[in-house]
Amino acid sequence: MTVQKLVIVGEKQLKGETSVSGGKNSSLAIIPAALLADGPCTIENVPDIQDIHVFETILRSLGAEVSYQPAERLMVIDPRTVSSCTVSYDLARQLRASYYFMGALLGRLGEANVPLPGGCDIGARPIDQHRKAFTALGTQVSDTGGALALKGNPVGTRINFDLVTVGGTINAMLAAVRAKGNTVLSNAAREPHVVDVANFLNSIGARVRGAGTDTIRIEGRGHLRGGIYTVIPDQIETGTLMIAAAATRGDVVIRDTIPTHMEALTAKLLEMGVKVTTDDDVIRVQFGDIHRNLQISTQEYPGFPTDLQQPISALLTRAKGTSVVTENIFSNRFKHLQEMERMGALVRISGNVATIEGVTQLRGAQVSASDLRCGAALVIAGLMARGTTEVDHVEYIDRGYEQLEEKLNALGADITRTTVEE
Ligand code: UD1
Repeated sequence: MTVQKLVIVGEKQLKGETSVSGGKNSSLAIIPAALLADGPCTIENVPDIQDIHVFETILRSLGAEVSYQPAERLMVIDPRTVSSCTVSYDLARQLRASYYFMGALLGRLGEANVPLPGGCDIGARPIDQHRKAFTALGTQVSDTGGALALKGNPVGTRINFDLVTVGGTINAMLAAVRAKGNTVLSNAAREPHVVDVANFLNSIGARVRGAGTDTIRIEGRGHLRGGIYTVIPDQIETGTLMIAAAATRGDVVIRDTIPTHMEALTAKLLEMGVKVTTDDDVIRVQFGDIHRNLQISTQEYPGFPTDLQQPISALLTRAKGTSVVTENIFSNRFKHLQEMERMGALVRISGNVATIEGVTQLRGAQVSASDLRCGAALVIAGLMARGTTEVDHVEYIDRGYEQLEEKLNALGADITRTTVEE
């Protein structure tokens, strides 16, 4: 079997301009949401990443007509031919976001059979809140050998989430937009991609109000038309590029961003001593004179995103002083730091808290990515380290970052992709 590695020669400063691709998590919710339309939907700014290719296959397997042009970042979905309500296990297990086919198929057909999702191994990822929402909407929910079987047209209701869940909020929205009657979601997630999905749904005739606050009100509509919609820039890719610029003590201008989505990270980089300036859709990150230690505690939006915890804690391994990183969203999200110990990082992990003693230098080593953001963190570690770092299991990175090494190389990094026999 052949596998791919990234070989990174470290200590190259990143300099110049780059731009951010369309949002992964937005696209992975908006594409299933297009199944709710009664006409073709054209989705622009869809990133060319592996997870999107899996979704294309799922859409076709359901009977939708799909034209995906990765080079144009364009996907056209005509859901009028959808005839199946069943997603295969082999496809669903490849990624977390396959759970959105539950809400979308339920909203369209009143029925869905979707295997429990796969995705990154970053700790327990139950979907009890999704089930709670479907049940509240009057749907029969049963487990059938590792899959969820949903039956019954949704009827509007009130749903109070027991915890803040991005996936649960979006799934409830998808199931409710065509429901009979009105739905109110309380304790809803406020992430930018929740708002993006609501904006897409509204653009095709839905009535979703309050997305971006913790209360979302949905007036059920029997009919949704097709339309054209442009996905927002990827918040996590933006943050990864910002952190990479800071980590290499570089000077990078990042275009096609939404700076307000980045406020939690920007505040922390400023606190570290990094210079961050913004103008319209542009963010510039420049090295100051020192990288100070930080206290980071992940939270739901608008707090510090868990998906950027791994990249920023890689950066903190070289900050001056002791940093403390508390991961509040997922239980197993420090594997990158354990890998970085091979590179000379000094880390103590106790439960959901990582204590990082900054070192003056990291050295290149062979390390292994075990999930998507772990991969991104290890690339940042390789950019900082003296010598050569080899990051294997690149497939995790390819799931969610569009041309990460190309973008970094264009800024002055030295990263090559090699294929080896395993
Ligand atoms: C989504 C993102 C992921 C991000 C995460 C948090 C996608 C495809 N993935 O994942 O990149 O890291 O939001 O911002 O958009 N929980 C339950 N029961 C549930 C649902 C969630 O206990 O039914 C818990 C989870 O275990 C976790 C927390 O709630 O501890 C947040 O999870 P959630 O917001 O649902 O994350 P995902 O939708 O899986």
